[in-house]
Amino acid sequence: MMSEIERAAECLRAGKLVAFPTETVYGLGADALNAQAVAGIYVAKGRPADYPLIVHGADGDTLLRLTRRVPAPAWVLIERFWPGPLTLVLSRAASVPDAVTGGQGTVALRVPDHPLALALLAEFDGPLVAPSANRFGRISPTTAEHVQEELGSAVDFILDGGPCQVGVESAIVDLSGDAPRLLRPGGVPREAIEALLGRSLAGPAQGGPRAPGALSAHYAPVTPLHLLTRAEIHTQVREAMAAGRKVAVLAPAAPDIIGPGCRWLEPPADPAAYARVLYAWLRALDRSGVSAILVQPPPRSPCWEAVRDRLTRAARGSRDMPMTASMTP
Ligand code: TXA
Ligand code: MG
Repeated sequence: MMSEIERAAECLRAGKLVAFPTETVYGLGADALNAQAVAGIYVAKGRPADYPLIVHGADGDTLLRLTRRVPAPAWVLIERFWPGPLTLVLSRAASVPDAVTGGQGTVALRVPDHPLALALLAEFDGPLVAPSANRFGRISPTTAEHVQEELGSAVDFILDGGPCQVGVESAIVDLSGDAPRLLRPGGVPREAIEALLGRSLAGPAQGGPRAPGALSAHYAPVTPLHLLTRAEIHTQVREAMAAGRKVAVLAPAAPDIIGPGCRWLEPPADPAAYARVLYAWLRALDRSGVSAILVQPPPRSPCWEAVRDRLTRAARGSRDMPMTASMTP
């Protein structure tokens, strides 16, 4: 009998879409060298066609064939962080379809650190594109059930590997230009990358190629999410309760007033643990019938960068604009 991995690889070879777990979030996989299969990803996700995808491989050798030049800093990062939640943007080889890169001169590459992802990549024996397996702009899935909820019949096969361990997407570092740039904070903290490179990472280039988060609505729940100080949360809770509206509060301490209409969740105090639960919590709160999700953001320190980034985007992308843009508690 064929194993799950063999069946999934067979689907991919037939140009179909397979969702699979990675250490960060679930990916929606397709054969990276089959332009038609890649086109299917854009349809399934409802994603703009010029938005580039990350190519996943079983090892560095498979992926570096897709590049034109591998600069010295890339070798250092690959040696230390692959497999792992770090994506590198490098100059692309001619063999990479335009559908993958959005027509850009660069390609994004990563080796995921998950046994099922690695087994699938090895069995498929080639590179796979795998954007997060959610509809465009929505919260990334961290369980197989989330993928089913998001994509339903648009996905041909789902490999279930249980909940993802990292919980937010990979960090994306662009090494294709003169200075290394952090295009998206993520699974590998900025500090760890900077320490290894011996220099600081610039931000995304202004007007540069489509960087993640160039679009404001991203990683967003449908329920309005607001980033607020403790005092602002207090005011919002009081107003909501007076108006008979239910709210959820994500804050390290319980709000001063708490009643049946106010649901308080205490997020983990450790950044890695917070990242692991963040998307599942937002998804659950989205379905819980609350009128707003009130979040007291974690500290500004570098180790919280990825979590703060996703919370900021969730606030911007959720249906209404935030009541205040306050991020300074
Ligand atoms: O953790 C992850 O990276 C997950 C898992 C499934 O591996 N994947 C993921 O893929 O987050 P996706 O497609 O949701 O995000 C890809 C991001 C996009 O925001 C895109 O802008 C950026 O990578 N990207 C892809 N190719 C690029 C390129 N050539 N230059 C700049 N950014 C690129
Ligand atoms: Mg995504």
